Amino acid sequence: MQTVSVNLGQRSYAIELGEGLLSRVGEILKARGIGGRVGIVSNPPVADLYGEEVRESLRRAGYETALVLIPEGEAHKDTASLGLIYDALVEQRFDRSATLIALGGGVIGDVTGFAAATFLRGIDYVQIPTTLLAQVDASVGGKTAVNHHQGKNLIGAFHQPRLVVIDLNTLRTLPPREFAAGMAEVIKHGIIEDAGFFGFLEERMDSLLSLDAAAVESAVAASCRIKAAVVEQDEREDDRRAILNFGHTIGHALESFTGYERFLHGEAVAIGMIQAAVLSAGRGLCSAAELGRIEALVRSAGLPWRIPGDIALEDLVAGMALDKKSQAGKIRFVLCEGIGRTRFQWFSPAEIVRELAPGP
Ligand SMILES: NC(=O)c1ccc[n+]([C@@H]2O[C@H](COP(=O)([O-])OP(=O)(O)OC[C@H]3O[C@@H](n4cnc5c(N)ncnc54)[C@H](O)[C@@H]3O)[C@@H](O)[C@H]2O)c1
Ligand SMILES: [Zn+2]
Repeated sequence: MQTVSVNLGQRSYAIELGEGLLSRVGEILKARGIGGRVGIVSNPPVADLYGEEVRESLRRAGYETALVLIPEGEAHKDTASLGLIYDALVEQRFDRSATLIALGGGVIGDVTGFAAATFLRGIDYVQIPTTLLAQVDASVGGKTAVNHHQGKNLIGAFHQPRLVVIDLNTLRTLPPREFAAGMAEVIKHGIIEDAGFFGFLEERMDSLLSLDAAAVESAVAASCRIKAAVVEQDEREDDRRAILNFGHTIGHALESFTGYERFLHGEAVAIGMIQAAVLSAGRGLCSAAELGRIEALVRSAGLPWRIPGDIALEDLVAGMALDKKSQAGKIRFVLCEGIGRTRFQWFSPAEIVRELAPGP
């Protein structure tokens, strides 16, 4: 087991990671001084796999637990699911000393975090992320939200967890496509902040995809450390935290253009990272060789890497210019300066279309 610290003054917390931690959740919470009753929020498939193990461990440590299930899927990251959580907490008379546990992927983490941010004006919560994406990204940094039918994550709050417990064994039941999607965010962390880590990923991608325990632990720990360091510098995304959006400008456009059905988030980000690297190379910020390494690493993870031929670049870019983050029709991109550094640059829609490689 190893610990990564997220240092945010009074809101600091630990990320404990290792194999087999689910059966030790109770003692880990006790050791961290977490008291009160515990409401575990999950969805049916994840609860079937891991719910009883977590509950049993909490019971052994003397915790009184309740399980709240919300339906599976991004479509249920909504206010109706929040309502289910609030109803259960009120019905069972949870008070301010209670703690919520998010047991699942990023959807469960985001909904549970927002419920914890708002129930009785804020109670503690613990993240137990069970997807690679949630382990390396969603569970770290305190962004919580639910979707509105007009847009993703429109209703949310910053609320840091008290603790994150990552059991790497949970990745063994994750579908390979979901694992690869999480790997896109891992690769992103290398590109934006850490050339050495990027090199490690190049060397060990095969081991990672075959779930070699030591390789996976190193990659998840390094990823958490990188994200934590960025969040520590800019907790509420005034500026610097936006480097975590590398690959996301085109990624979000692809997801929204295809109705959130064709790509998993990480798959859209994989394509977006390569396009951002193409723009970076076009402006002389990264070399052709570095662009080639980024493309090769993304492809070696089994991720898609090109904008599919049936999606017109003009249509994607038109959508971006309407985004709330664009200014005077210009779009801010996170570009890479080689591997391991970033910088922001503004592009007009016409410049993006001109400078990006066409699809196949
Ligand atoms: N808060 C943040 O900073 C942040 C960052 C990135 C993404 N997100 C959010 O995270 C969400 C995506 O998260 P995700 O990729 O984890 O998707 P997800 O939560 O939908 O999980 C993916 C699928 O895997 C299943 N699953 C989860 N763990 C499993 C396991 N161990 N074995 C088998 N199946 C398992 C889930 O039931 C689901 O069907 C999005 O809503 C996104 O907005 C939040
Ligand atoms: Zn992302």
